[in-house]
Amino acid sequence: MVSSMKKSLGAKTLVYPTPVFVVGTYDQAGKPNVMTAAWGGICCSQPPCVAVSLRKATYTHGNILARKAFTISIPSEDHVQQADYFGLVSGRSVDKFATTKLTPVRSELVDAPYVQEFVLIVECKLAHVIELGLHTQFVGEVMDVKAEESVMAKGGSLDITKVKPLVFAPDSQAYYGIGQFVGQAFSVGQGI
Ligand SMILES: Cc1cc2nc3c(=O)[nH]c(=O)nc-3n(C[C@H](O)[C@H](O)[C@H](O)COP(=O)(O)O)c2cc1C
Repeated sequence: MVSSMKKSLGAKTLVYPTPVFVVGTYDQAGKPNVMTAAWGGICCSQPPCVAVSLRKATYTHGNILARKAFTISIPSEDHVQQADYFGLVSGRSVDKFATTKLTPVRSELVDAPYVQEFVLIVECKLAHVIELGLHTQFVGEVMDVKAEESVMAKGGSLDITKVKPLVFAPDSQAYYGIGQFVGQAFSVGQGI
């Protein structure tokens, strides 16, 4: 039962769900780096674009401006530990690929690396840089999406139950998996 009284939680960055993106970049020396970003998502269909919002303090911020490119590797539930670690330490002082024993792969399309062991990859060319305040929004035009065949459904689409993406809850700072299938989009609403 939903009551008519809602409690104000204040002006917060609090929406559900937020994704867990692992943003891949090269630094000036060509060292591959990855950082975790929950402030991001699809932002245009044509041209296909995704956005990530990063603080200037991150190493990744400068890398994207210099290389004009980034990748997004989508971690599965089985990589939650590595995904969290990528958000705990900076590539300024740590080689995160070396410490996690994950493998950087050079994108053939953009000047950025992605994580070989992650099943879903988005390769982006920097299209827009928007200063918002604490965060800078980087809009990347998607050059390609790559997926392991093991997470594809018959007919070539992705099977989200095989990708097993993480969901981040900003208020409790907790990771979840996806839940049950609840309806087909652009279809279930037709029943009204
Ligand atoms: C779940 C999670 C989500 C995060 N989301 C963001 C984000 O959207 N933007 C951001 O600037 N930092 C975010 N961070 C923090 C960065 O990942 C962290 O500062 C990281 O050390 C930056 O790495 P870098 O210095 O190698 O670029 C997040 C961290 C975690 C654990």
